[in-house]
Amino acid sequence: MSESNLARTARAMVAPGKGIFATDMRPIDLTRGRWGETAELQTDENVFDFQEMFCRTPGLGEHLSSLIVFPEILDRTARDGTPLTELIADQGLMLGITPTTGFQLLGGSQYEYVPRGLEGLAKRLGSWRERGVSFVKWRVAARVMPGLPTERAMVSNARSVAELAALAQQFDLVPIVEPEVEMQGEHPIERQFEVTEWFLHRTFEALYEHGVAPEEMVLKTNMVVSGSDCPDQADAATVAAETLRCLRRVVPPAVPGIGFLSGGLSDIDATANLDAMNRLGTQPWVLSFSYGRAIGRAAAEAWDGKTDGSRGQTALAHRARMCGLASLGQWSNELEDAGRVAPASTG
Ligand code: 13P
Repeated sequence: MSESNLARTARAMVAPGKGIFATDMRPIDLTRGRWGETAELQTDENVFDFQEMFCRTPGLGEHLSSLIVFPEILDRTARDGTPLTELIADQGLMLGITPTTGFQLLGGSQYEYVPRGLEGLAKRLGSWRERGVSFVKWRVAARVMPGLPTERAMVSNARSVAELAALAQQFDLVPIVEPEVEMQGEHPIERQFEVTEWFLHRTFEALYEHGVAPEEMVLKTNMVVSGSDCPDQADAATVAAETLRCLRRVVPPAVPGIGFLSGGLSDIDATANLDAMNRLGTQPWVLSFSYGRAIGRAAAEAWDGKTDGSRGQTALAHRARMCGLASLGQWSNELEDAGRVAPASTG
């Protein structure tokens, strides 16, 4: 049987040396803690300029296959009136949407959430497809705390992402299935491993029950790392080995690729961990990136407010290139340092 269009698109999203830039977060969230409450990046006008800036970054398509955006981007134009979707297409990038409209507490729980936004989504998916959108992303998250996560939250979230994935494929869109075990917490890497394995199991069970074709999706998930406040931090070699050991237990080889999230890791850690994994030899799936902060933060910090010819673009291009090299196991600290762009002065 010949390969379906969706399977081809999924493979192109994780083409060798390329990954995904998840821009579906507010620029202020990229630089949280640096800009403070009166941040430049909080005004609408600056957010629009920032978006135009990254869409215009020269050569963005060399190391990125696609961008994940909020639906509003589809109707946004640059200062000269060019639709941002046109700038993105001109870079050879595919476009994906995050349709989630928020999160709500799981009934009866104080700490665990499920995403909102599935209601009425079918109509929107159809119209996005007509406008050239290639994929949609759905994030479900698990928090690690004493007694958490619960089996009920795991199952509810797995069903939510499976429902979205089935619907997406029905509308000829590739789903990015994103179960994230958050790294925030004091837990050791062993606990992160255990919860990641558990969440992925529940997710792939639900995907199977919903009839989702694994060849026609991309998995976006966390690396198996130590909790951010754990005194004993695993190094890149350990993270790489444990992440692969975990994924091999659960992720079907039919899935073409895994685009990791950076989840609050530093740019260097996110890149070094991915590089270390790709130095461990060929795996059943392409190991790539779908980073938000580990690509966008440097750009937001270096940004000088210009929509073109900006320091933000230099920083973004550099981070995209470093992540592209890591996805081939060809990254180094020396290359990283050689192209680093210093943060702009905040005055
Ligand atoms: P991070 O890489 O910053 O975790 O972001 C991933 C993402 O999906 C943002 O929506």
